[in-house]
Amino acid sequence: MRALITGSGGQLGLELIEAAPSTIELIPLDHTALDIADEGAVRRSVAEHTPDVIINAAAYTDVDRAEREWDAAWSINGDAVGNLALRATEVGARLIHVSTDFVFDGTATEPYRPDSESNPLSEYGASKLEGEAQALESAAAIVVRASRVFSSHGDNFVTGMLRQMLEQDELTVVDDQVGSPTWAQGLAEVLWRCAERADLAGIWHWSDGGSCTWYQWARTIQQQALDRGLLERIVPIRAVSTAEYPTAAARPAFSVLDSSATCTALAIQQVPWEDTLGTMLDQMADSASL
Ligand SMILES: NC(=O)c1ccc[n+]([C@@H]2O[C@H](COP(=O)([O-])OP(=O)(O)OC[C@H]3O[C@@H](n4cnc5c(N)ncnc54)[C@H](OP(=O)(O)O)[C@@H]3O)[C@@H](O)[C@H]2O)c1
Repeated sequence: MRALITGSGGQLGLELIEAAPSTIELIPLDHTALDIADEGAVRRSVAEHTPDVIINAAAYTDVDRAEREWDAAWSINGDAVGNLALRATEVGARLIHVSTDFVFDGTATEPYRPDSESNPLSEYGASKLEGEAQALESAAAIVVRASRVFSSHGDNFVTGMLRQMLEQDELTVVDDQVGSPTWAQGLAEVLWRCAERADLAGIWHWSDGGSCTWYQWARTIQQQALDRGLLERIVPIRAVSTAEYPTAAARPAFSVLDSSATCTALAIQQVPWEDTLGTMLDQMADSASL
């Protein structure tokens, strides 16, 4: 199977490359190699490589900046996905697209299922919802929604917290938004399983098991990093409310994803987020990458 990966330089893109089964012929294209918002470049690239599957790991992911740069967010997260779906269909490829828990408004009290009603609170969430719709115009598309993606690569909540815990004397973290962390490596493995399952289509959810507030996650990051010698001192972490920590984009108060259908379809189990975090920190400690 030949797989073209867009956004291959991002945190998920890098994990997709590392987790690719040996049977896959990989065509990893980072932002420099392929701008997915460039319609002609996408048409030419897909026609040249004739992939069997396109995994779209490219996105405009700066949630707060998207409030003012909404046109760029909508172009990359919305229309560009529609163009990818169109070009995929032309060469008979399947499109696997990644979306987000931020398509939900957070008013639910039970984990969101793939068919739960969406109602994004932000430009980022709305642009990603538009991308889902445009992806699904291609009959062979799969959309996998994830939440709070983290890895040892790049900027994410875990690497950001570790950096702040090294550099600052006190941290302030929101304690009234509940979601589920998703280890990018596990997400990449799920996407490869989806790539091998031609019978799957539509929207699917994936995150690690369990849920937490950002504050609870930060406390666990600190403890696990101390246990592994990645941090040497404890800095106080102050829990605050969303109201005390204003951001440009509104975020859902509750955005836990129900991944049970994905577990059943792929015959896999979610690993508790505390365990995936521990494995990632073990890898960081082994490579002394801090
Ligand atoms: N991160 C999260 O917490 C989270 C949560 C839920 C869902 N997701 C979804 O997961 C997917 C992967 O995100 P990620 O966490 O891996 O984000 P990431 O690390 O920011 O990676 C996104 C990649 O897309 C590239 N990109 C941006 N604009 C592009 C364009 N026009 N053409 C080609 N590439 C472009 C970026 O390159 P540059 O850096 O050079 O711009 C970057 O390498 C996205 O669909 C995202 O919406 C992420």
